[in-house]
Amino acid sequence: MQTVKLLDGTSLPVLGLGTWSYGGGNTPDYSRDAESIATMRTIIGMGYTHLDTAESYGKNHCEEIVGQAIKAFDRSDIFITTKVAPEHLRALDVIKAAEGSLRRLDVDAIDLYLIHWPNKDIPLNETFAGLNKLLGDGRVKRVGLSNFSVEQMRESMRLCDGPIITNQVKYNLLHREPENNGVLDFCQQEGIVLTAYSPLKSDVMDHPVVKRIAAAHNATPAQVAIQWLVRQPLVITIPKSSDIDHAKENLGALDVALTEAEVAELDAISG
Ligand SMILES: NC(=O)c1ccc[n+]([C@@H]2O[C@H](COP(=O)([O-])OP(=O)(O)OC[C@H]3O[C@@H](n4cnc5c(N)ncnc54)[C@H](OP(=O)(O)O)[C@@H]3O)[C@@H](O)[C@H]2O)c1
Repeated sequence: MQTVKLLDGTSLPVLGLGTWSYGGGNTPDYSRDAESIATMRTIIGMGYTHLDTAESYGKNHCEEIVGQAIKAFDRSDIFITTKVAPEHLRALDVIKAAEGSLRRLDVDAIDLYLIHWPNKDIPLNETFAGLNKLLGDGRVKRVGLSNFSVEQMRESMRLCDGPIITNQVKYNLLHREPENNGVLDFCQQEGIVLTAYSPLKSDVMDHPVVKRIAAAHNATPAQVAIQWLVRQPLVITIPKSSDIDHAKENLGALDVALTEAEVAELDAISG
C-alpha cells in the first residue's frame, strides 16, 4: 500500500481502519465479539495494518476487540493509534489512561497516542508532563493530536519531547474545515500527517459530482472520496468498516486515477 513518512522516519499506510462502533458505541456491546474479531482480522489481512481506536470507543471495549484481533498477526506488522479522552488530561490521569489502553490492547507499547480532544480546563503542559513520561519510558512510541487548532498544535510542539506526528481531524469532500482554519497547510508545512476522519460522512457518497466521476472510472463514490483525500501530500484516512466488501472496495480507492480536471471539479464542490 502507498505510505506517508512520519516525522520520525516511519512509514504509515495512507489507508487505515477506523474502529468506531466495533464493540459498541457510547456503551460496550459484548454480543458480537467473535464476529467483530473475525471481521477485523480479515480486514487487517487485506492490508489495513494501521488500526485507529480510542479508550472512549465502546467505553473501553473497542480496544479489547482490537487487542484480540491483532493476536493473529506479528505485533511488528501492526500499527495501533489510540487516544486519551479529554477528561483524562491531567498528568497522572494520562498515565493511568495509557496503562488502561495498554492492558486492554494487551501490548507493551502504543505506536501512536493522541489527545482525543483538547480540554480548555486542563492546561496542555499538564497533559504533556504525562505524555513525556510515557514517551520517556517507551510505553508510548509517538504522540499526536486530534481536533486541535493551529495555535494548539504550535503549543503542543513546544511542549512535547518528541515530534507531533499527526493531527486527526474531520476532513472530507463536503467538510473542508481543515482547509479553512489553516490546519491542512500547517501540517503540510511542518511535515505533520493530517489523518482525515469521517472520510465518507456528510453524505459525500450521494453528491452528484462524486457519483458522476465515480461512474466515469467504473469506481464507486466512496472510492472517489477516499482517493481525493489520500492524493494530497501528507494526508491519510481511516474509513471505518465492519463490512468486508466495503473494506475491499475502500482499498480499491488507491487504484482510481483521477484526472487534473476531475480533481479541480472535486476541489470546487462544497457542502
Ligand atoms: N478523532 C476523532 O474525534 C474521531 C471522530 C470520528 C471518527 N474518528 C475515527 O475515524 C474513523 C472513521 O470515521 P467515521 O466512522 O466517523 O466515518 P466514516 O469512516 O466516514 O464512515 C463510516 C460509515 O461508512 C460506512 N462505509 C464504509 N465504507 C463504505 C463503502 N465503501 N460504501 C458504503 N458505506 C461505507 C460504514 O459502514 P460499514 O461498517 O457497514 O461499512 C460506516 O457506517 C472512526 O471509525 C474513528 O476511528 C475519530
